[in-house]
Amino acid sequence: MNEYGSLCTEWYEALYKYPPQEELELYSGYLLDDTQRVLEPMCGAGRFLIPMSAQGHAMYGFDHSAPMLEICKAKLAQRGLRAQVMQASLSSFSYPMPFDMIFITSGSFGLIVDPHEALVSLKRIHAYLSDSGVFLVEIETPLENQDALKVMHTMELTHNVQESLFLRKSESYDVQSNIYTADLLFQKRIQGHLERSEAMKFVIKHYVSDEFEHLLKQAGFCAVKIVRREHMELESTLSTKSLIYECRK
Ligand SMILES: C[S@@+](CC[C@H](N)C(=O)[O-])C[C@H]1O[C@@H](n2cnc3c(N)ncnc32)[C@H](O)[C@@H]1O
Repeated sequence: MNEYGSLCTEWYEALYKYPPQEELELYSGYLLDDTQRVLEPMCGAGRFLIPMSAQGHAMYGFDHSAPMLEICKAKLAQRGLRAQVMQASLSSFSYPMPFDMIFITSGSFGLIVDPHEALVSLKRIHAYLSDSGVFLVEIETPLENQDALKVMHTMELTHNVQESLFLRKSESYDVQSNIYTADLLFQKRIQGHLERSEAMKFVIKHYVSDEFEHLLKQAGFCAVKIVRREHMELESTLSTKSLIYECRK
């Protein structure tokens, strides 16, 4: 579940290579100087970690996907950047020191769908945050346009004339638990012939604001506030799509 394999990584890189500028500015805006240590759990291919490292910040990151980390390490080496990244899981990562800022972007925290694992993970983040440190985390809110979900659809992303990448996806949404599930099948074709395929179950938990605040408080965070709401237009009204929380001890 939620294992980002090599074809999924290719797909992600093709669609989400660069971070939204506004979000990048929000996260780096919390950093006063380059001596502060910053941890990005679930850093993936380094969409945020790499530009922040290029800005001079002392960046550390981890992710449990080997293909995502491989891309991240290659980009760091290519640009001569010194950020430290390693393979680890959110519920069991470990470092010899605390961090001044920890941040999780793009609703990735919702990939931890098991409530016990979510709490254990937040407690771990709390334990690795310095006393004056800040934890920033984005969560997605319950989907309101479930009608837009597709039973089955296929998308094509052509790299060049020779090679193409396809994604077949079947989506569903559980309105009780607010969990979105997609059965994904990535396929790489070379000159029209199937070269490789990769299946993935993508599952993400959407949180209502009170529910997530409760979880943060349970994990030990005392001061919790929403610093950004992203909206989307839904039948000419604005609906909240995601929230970024600022959490302190
Ligand atoms: C949506 S991607 C986001 C990556 C990056 N933060 C970005 O904005 O491009 C989510 C990442 O979370 C990682 N991931 C999912 N569950 C994880 C876990 N339990 N521990 C560590 N990483 C995890 C995946 O491997 C993937 O790279």
